[in-house]
Amino acid sequence: MSTPLMVSPELLNKNLTGKTYVVTGANSGIGLVTAQQLAKQGATVVMGVRRVKEGQRVAAEIRREIGSADLIVYQLELGDLASVRAFAAEVNRNHPKLQGLVNNAGVMKTPFGRTKDGFETQFGVNHLGHFLLTNLLMDALKAGAPSRVVNLSSYFHEYAMGRKGEIHFDDLNYHSRPFDTWEAYAQSKLANLLHARELGRRLAGTGVTAASVNPGFVRTNLLSLPLPMWLQNLMVVPILRLAGLIEPWEGVQSTLYALLAPEVERQSGAYYSQIARYKDKAARAGGWPLRSPNPVAHDDAVAKRLWSVSEALVQAK
Ligand SMILES: NC(=O)c1ccc[n+]([C@@H]2O[C@H](COP(=O)([O-])OP(=O)(O)OC[C@H]3O[C@@H](n4cnc5c(N)ncnc54)[C@H](OP(=O)(O)O)[C@@H]3O)[C@@H](O)[C@H]2O)c1
Repeated sequence: MSTPLMVSPELLNKNLTGKTYVVTGANSGIGLVTAQQLAKQGATVVMGVRRVKEGQRVAAEIRREIGSADLIVYQLELGDLASVRAFAAEVNRNHPKLQGLVNNAGVMKTPFGRTKDGFETQFGVNHLGHFLLTNLLMDALKAGAPSRVVNLSSYFHEYAMGRKGEIHFDDLNYHSRPFDTWEAYAQSKLANLLHARELGRRLAGTGVTAASVNPGFVRTNLLSLPLPMWLQNLMVVPILRLAGLIEPWEGVQSTLYALLAPEVERQSGAYYSQIARYKDKAARAGGWPLRSPNPVAHDDAVAKRLWSVSEALVQAK
């Protein structure tokens, strides 16, 4: 396994005072480290979290570490489009100019379930909730341009535990086909990538740049096992490290690159990947940007169709 890709110290020292970023799922894992780093660089960070008390606890911890941190916590439940609308209204009211939206929150390998609006959980939370949020914050992103939208995808958009990443237009939300949780995760992460690609096309000339990222195989709550933490650290983590597990600080690098590197503006809609265990061995060293080994990830007809279908699904609710 190669060494993780790391952004330059210049980018990590760039002064972001006066800039405002929205980060979803900012109370944990990659989202937390994203919020922490942006605040350290002087930005105002709006943390969209489903558990407000936990978000406030995390914000207080970051403030203890970085005295000047400007963090605002608002409630956001991506599995409920009414909550997405309320969150967006709050952001638009108080922060009419945004320099970035990080669609980071996510769930993986959930048992079969539906969001409040009746969508399959992973497709609903990971893609449709963020799709609506992005549309609702678009005026603020345009007003704050140059600005960025960064979607957290995954290398599992290619294959997730042997299930090929595809968009199943015939039954996106598992109404008639048998449920397979890894297939649903792969679909949702491919949707995150295609959403950024289509955004890149639609936003040409607006000053808003879109990107999707794979953070790598990162030690976060997403991978938590039903074992005490000391036992995981002693027995499981060392084995997972051999399989390429990286730390949250390494996992946040692709997000920070997509959000801050000047060259990202030249390739709106591109995919940026940390090292990962792609089925396609040539892709394993990652790349900023990386040509995805999944041919569907380059299919503009699929990206356009996904946009129309997503728009119809969220507007109907
Ligand atoms: N870790 C990896 O190896 C890996 C690899 C590839 C891609 N990713 C992607 O990276 C992103 C961040 O994941 P992570 O690894 O940092 O995992 P994490 O530590 O579990 O963080 C996920 C965040 O999403 C939030 N969230 C989950 N469901 C939500 C909902 N319905 N509404 C609002 N927020 C919700 C969680 O809130 P709670 O704390 O309340 O649960 C948490 O803040 C995800 O999109 C994931 O798919 C991760």
